[in-house]
Amino acid sequence: MKLSPKIKKIWKEAVKAQKFAYAPYSKFKVGAAFSSDGKIFAGCNVENASYGATICAERGAVLKALSEGHQKIEDLVVVTPTKKGAPPCALCLQVLSEFADPHLKIWIATSKAIHSQIRLKDLLTVPFLKKDLKNKTQ
Ligand code: THU
Repeated sequence: MKLSPKIKKIWKEAVKAQKFAYAPYSKFKVGAAFSSDGKIFAGCNVENASYGATICAERGAVLKALSEGHQKIEDLVVVTPTKKGAPPCALCLQVLSEFADPHLKIWIATSKAIHSQIRLKDLLTVPFLKKDLKNKTQ
């Protein structure tokens, strides 16, 4: 796959973040990074003894960007310890849908290679959005 220098840079940050993952329970370390207003934001999964309080790498990166005043999400790279990479979970797709364009490119990667690219709209075809709240009738 031919990759632009920008994508390679985002991927590098995702790989770097993956190393900081706190995953003593699943032992499945994830790194995620995207570009926002020319800056790169990265995150890693942070697990919890209560399991359910675990925060995925993608949502960690989104929280970082938002809390620094950046709401744009472009070119998300997700790095997992798998053979060909893995997509973001449905909860993360829903959170991404709040901010990202449905055409957001999601790059599925490992620390060794970027294996594929898929659009947000193809992973979560019908997200629940602000407009749905406006359709309230009762
Ligand atoms: N995980 C992520 O960080 N991102 C995803 O989209 C899928 C799953 C994390 C959560 C948990 O710490 C570990 O991977 C195993 O599910």
